[in-house]
Amino acid sequence: MKILVTGGVGFIGSHTVVELDEAGFEPVIIDNLYNSNLDVLKGIKSITGKDFPFYNIDCNDVEKVRSLFEKEKFDGVIHFAAYKAVGESVEKPLNYYENNLISLLVLLRVMKEFDVKNFVFSSSCTVYGQPDALPVTELTPRKPANSPYGNTKAIAEDIIRDHVYSGPGLKALALRYFNPIGAHESSLIGELPNGVPSNLVPFITQTAAGLRKSLTVFGSDYNTPDGTCIRDFIHVVDLAKAHVKALSLLQETETENHYDVFNVGTGEGYTVLDLINTFEDVNGVKVNYAIGPRREGDVEKIYAQSDKVNNVMKWTAEKTMADALRDAWNWQLKITPKQ
Ligand code: WQD
Repeated sequence: MKILVTGGVGFIGSHTVVELDEAGFEPVIIDNLYNSNLDVLKGIKSITGKDFPFYNIDCNDVEKVRSLFEKEKFDGVIHFAAYKAVGESVEKPLNYYENNLISLLVLLRVMKEFDVKNFVFSSSCTVYGQPDALPVTELTPRKPANSPYGNTKAIAEDIIRDHVYSGPGLKALALRYFNPIGAHESSLIGELPNGVPSNLVPFITQTAAGLRKSLTVFGSDYNTPDGTCIRDFIHVVDLAKAHVKALSLLQETETENHYDVFNVGTGEGYTVLDLINTFEDVNGVKVNYAIGPRREGDVEKIYAQSDKVNNVMKWTAEKTMADALRDAWNWQLKITPKQ
């Protein structure tokens, strides 16, 4: 199966390209390089030995997307391409609504024109807001998102659902990611945040590598065992493998006009301090950190109930948080210039 991977040069996209190849799929990558760079393609080639077709295309450009579909006969699409910085989305909401939603609408329209029937969408646990009960299942009601970024994911899910039920013959799955962390064990691809990382793990690895003076832990007065937030940290390679399983599930799904959602998480919740301590233990390095005030918009605790993805999509997380933190550190050491 030839699969279009939008945002395929990004963190999760690049790891998914590797796993698609591993599973015998034929990935084609488009990316506008807004939040990634072409060196990632070299990393993918070093791992797979292959040059996958790459097109520098913005998913909002309907003419370029259409001409791509004329050139490449796709069997399916995995749609990663989106802006994803929670804080930035609060400052620039119109950019987020325009980019994240127009790109989706363009893809769904062009897929319909070319009768491409399999679609996997990159959604997020952020659609749950602060759930009333934990762990969250797919039936947990969504809540108003804490950010325009999160809202674009919730609206996107509704767009896909409504489009599927209008009868285009599409089969679509929305994967609600929890917190992707880590890097490929080869240290040939990993997370490349632009500028100051907003996410926890790249900030930790940059601090441990001496690129940042100190990590601020955003709040230690939450109602959790050690007062810091709880999250479901999932290894990015496990998450990538979930996309392969999602495509296989779509291949097996006979009924068209099918839409479903899956929580893709480990099912385990760990606190921020648990993660820092584990990072220090597995890597034998100290992380300089201080407790600071809470970060606006943070959810206190969230982690997945993963029964559905385990039993229906036949995917289970195989790697531990320690594996992810070891791989994240090895990747940071690889990309940090020798001081
Ligand atoms: C995790 C925890 C912070 C940085 C968001 C999106 C989600 C996904 C991942 C894109 C929180 C704490 C963080 C720091 C800290 N986005 N933290 N100091 O906010 O759970 O999820 O990013 O794919 O959709 O919602 O991830 O890594 O920013 O924060 O203490 O310098 O780490 O308070 O408790 P988050 P995060």
